[in-house]
Amino acid sequence: MSLGSSSESVHVRAPGKINVYLGVGGRHDDGYHALATVFQAVSLYEDVIARPSAGFSIVVKGLEDPSTVPLDDRNLAMRAAKLLAAAAGYDGGVALEVRKSVPVAGGMGGGSADAAAALVACDALWGTGFSQARLHDLAARLGADVPFALHGGTAVGTGRGDQLNPALARGRFDWVLVTSEQGLSTPTVYGRLDALREEEGALADDPPLSLDVPIPVLQALRSGDAESLAESLHNDLQAAAVHERPDLEETIVHGLRAGALHGIVSGSGPTVALLCADPEGAQQVQSALRETGLDPLHVHGPVPGARILG
Ligand code: C5P
Repeated sequence: MSLGSSSESVHVRAPGKINVYLGVGGRHDDGYHALATVFQAVSLYEDVIARPSAGFSIVVKGLEDPSTVPLDDRNLAMRAAKLLAAAAGYDGGVALEVRKSVPVAGGMGGGSADAAAALVACDALWGTGFSQARLHDLAARLGADVPFALHGGTAVGTGRGDQLNPALARGRFDWVLVTSEQGLSTPTVYGRLDALREEEGALADDPPLSLDVPIPVLQALRSGDAESLAESLHNDLQAAAVHERPDLEETIVHGLRAGALHGIVSGSGPTVALLCADPEGAQQVQSALRETGLDPLHVHGPVPGARILG
């Protein structure tokens, strides 16, 4: 089928995310852990440009080390394009260009943002006309974080992190992010958490297989008050991530000394997210951390999910 395919290119922008709260429960038989998390989309974006083509191809720009992102069917944006083509019965292709700003393997969902952006871009380029719900189903098949990159904003994720419900967040939160050149493997960090829990002893209760985000976290987001949110920031994976990378703890301490309200490892790390009172506070933290040799970014959230530009 050729659908209503366009001869123009389509440019889509999708955000990276941080986990404001991450509770990790027990491990299911499939190896995945029960989660209760709050995602917030932040103003650090991936851009995907889709151009008409008979076959499928991809180029990735903005990488310091090009070997860190695969250009074959392991690439999530490529998989997204092919999944949409199969679902729509479309027999053409696409030439994808990905311009990266979200760090690779930083726990910020950069690959998931690429996939969400590729779905939206190819849907527009090919004139597929899928509903948001249908795109969401395809996104969920690509990975647990892809539906969130499609929707953006602030959302609660339960189940394995893939069951999404929008959360009300008022105002704007200012974050300073400290990313790392060296990524952290997500399975390694979850495995370390299991090992640490085992060491805690047989007397500890088994972690639950279903859990919720605590009410105070949701209230703090609704209030739009950075100080309340600072009190609610939490990550069950943090101890495991710090076990693998002790320097992350030092980064948090530097951030607090520089005036951040609170700091956590985001998701499975290694990105550290420091919540600041306002934009001026964030600029101050950013400059102070630069003096310690770090390369911090000032972002804000929540921001919208994958959107067509221009
Ligand atoms: O979903 P994703 O492919 O990013 O997950 C990578 C790995 O992280 C999984 O193979 C699993 O080891 C771990 N994981 C987990 N529980 C989750 C999500 C991820 O144990 N809910």
